[in-house]
Amino acid sequence: MLVRKICCIGAGYVGGPTMAVIAKKNPDLKITIVDINKVRINAWNDSDLSKLPIYEPGLAEIVDDTRNKNLFFSTDIDTAIDESEMIFISVNTPTKTYGVGKGMAADLKYIELCARNIAKVAKTDKIVVEKSTLPVRTAEAIKSILHNTGNGIDFKILSNPEFLAEGTAIQDLLNPDRVLIGGESEAAIESLAQIYGTWVPQNKILRTNVWSSELSKLTANAFLAQRVSSINAISELCELTEANIEEVSKAIGMDSRIGPKFLKSSVGFGGSCFQKDILNLVYIARSYNLNQVADYWEQVVIMNNHQKRRFSDRLIKTLYNTVSGKKIGMLGWAFKKDTNDTRESAAIYVADHLLNEQAMISVYDPKVSCSKIQSDLNYLGTRTEAENYEGLTSVDSPYKALNEAHAVAIMTEWDEFKTYDWEKIYSQMKKPAFIFDGRNLLDKSKMSQIGFEYYSIGQ
Ligand code: NAI
Repeated sequence: MLVRKICCIGAGYVGGPTMAVIAKKNPDLKITIVDINKVRINAWNDSDLSKLPIYEPGLAEIVDDTRNKNLFFSTDIDTAIDESEMIFISVNTPTKTYGVGKGMAADLKYIELCARNIAKVAKTDKIVVEKSTLPVRTAEAIKSILHNTGNGIDFKILSNPEFLAEGTAIQDLLNPDRVLIGGESEAAIESLAQIYGTWVPQNKILRTNVWSSELSKLTANAFLAQRVSSINAISELCELTEANIEEVSKAIGMDSRIGPKFLKSSVGFGGSCFQKDILNLVYIARSYNLNQVADYWEQVVIMNNHQKRRFSDRLIKTLYNTVSGKKIGMLGWAFKKDTNDTRESAAIYVADHLLNEQAMISVYDPKVSCSKIQSDLNYLGTRTEAENYEGLTSVDSPYKALNEAHAVAIMTEWDEFKTYDWEKIYSQMKKPAFIFDGRNLLDKSKMSQIGFEYYSIGQ
C-alpha cells in the first residue's frame, strides 16, 4: 500500500520524538500527531521551542526543521485518521489502578478507545501500527474491534514497538540497534520497512510475527531492568564486605558474555516503563498459570523497591536515626538525566519516606518545574497537599537547595551536579555535612578531602 499520509495518536514521549524523526527523514510524507490533550498539542505548536512539552537533546531542532512543513500537531483526531493510510497508536498503557489486575496488568482502555475511533472514522483501507508497549496478543483484540465494523474496510495490523531510551531518544531513533516490525501482511510490513529504510539499513529492520514482536518489547524491558536490579542486589553485599561495586561492575562487564552497559548501581530504576512492563509480564505469566516464571520476574521489581527504601533508611540511620526538622537538599527529581520525565522516579519515593520522618526537603532539578514536583508527591496521596507543600519546597538553584542543609541526596545523574562549587556548598551546610550519592556521580576522594561525610551506593 502506498503511504503518503501518516497519523500518530498520542503526542507523548514516544509519539512526539518518533514522528519528528520519521518526518525529518521522509520529507514527502505528511505526518500529523494528534492528542486529546489540548494543552500538550498547544505546547508542541508553541513558537518558543523551549516550551515544547518534552525535553530531549536534539528534539527541538528537528521539530523546528519539520513543523508545519510535513509534521503537524493537532487535536482534530478524526480528520487525521480519515486522511491517513497508516495510523500509529502511541498512547499510554499504564498499570491498571482498578478492578481485575489492579496494580499489575496494563490498562488498555486508551488503546481500545483508539481502535474504536479508527473503526468509526475510517472510510478507506488502513495500516494500523501498535507503537505503544502492549501485552502479547493485544493485536487480536484490536483486530476484532476493527474487523467488526461491518463497513468492508481492510485493516492490516502491525506491531512496531519502540526501543528508544528517554534522554537519548533522538540519537536512539537516528541510529537504532534494530527496528522491529511484526505482522501477518507482508505488504503492510514492507510499507513500514520502506519508511524506516530511508535511514535505517535493511539488515537492522527485523520482520517477525505479531506475537513475537509484542512479547519482545516486554522482554527487552524486563532484561534491562533485571540487570539494574542484579547489580543493585550486589551493591548491598558490597557495602557489608568492603568490596566496591564500581570495581565489581567493571570486572564483570569486561566479560564479553556480560558486557559493560546497564551495570551501574544506583538508588533504583524509575521511568514509566520498566516497572509497568515487568508487572504486566508477571500478570500475563500468572494468567497462563506460569507461577515460577511470574515469581522470577516479579523479584526484579521487589529488589528495586528495596533499593529505594534502603537508600532513605541509610540516610536516616546515618543522620543519628532522625531527620525530623532537618533540611535535606535533593539534587535531581527526573528519573534520569537529560529528560524532564519524572514518572516513577526514585526521588518521589525517597522524598515521601523522608517526609514521613518529618524531614524538611528542598529540591533542585534543572528541567523539572516546581508544580510538577508537588503534583508527583500529591499523586501518592500519603498526606494532604498543604502538608506536602510545607515539608517540601523546590528552588531554582542548587546552592539554595543545599544552603544550611544537613545532608545532600543526589537522585539524578545530571552532569551539571559534578561541576558545582562543592567547597562553597560545604561551607554553607551544617556540620558534619553528609552526601548520599544515589548515582555514584561525584568523586569520593575529592568530596572526603573537602570534608564531606560521603556515602555512595555499594562502596
Ligand atoms: P505519554 O503519556 O507521554 O503519551 C501518551 C499520550 O497519548 C498522551 O499525551 C495522551 O493524552 C494521549 N492519549 C491517550 N489516549 C488518547 C486517545 N484516545 N486519543 C488521543 N490521544 C490519547 O506516553 P509515552 O511515554 O509516550 O508512552 C506511550 C507508549 O509507548 C506506552 O505504551 C509506553 O509503554 C511506550 N513506550 C514508552 C517509552 C518511553 O520511554 N516513554 C519507550 C518505549 C515505549
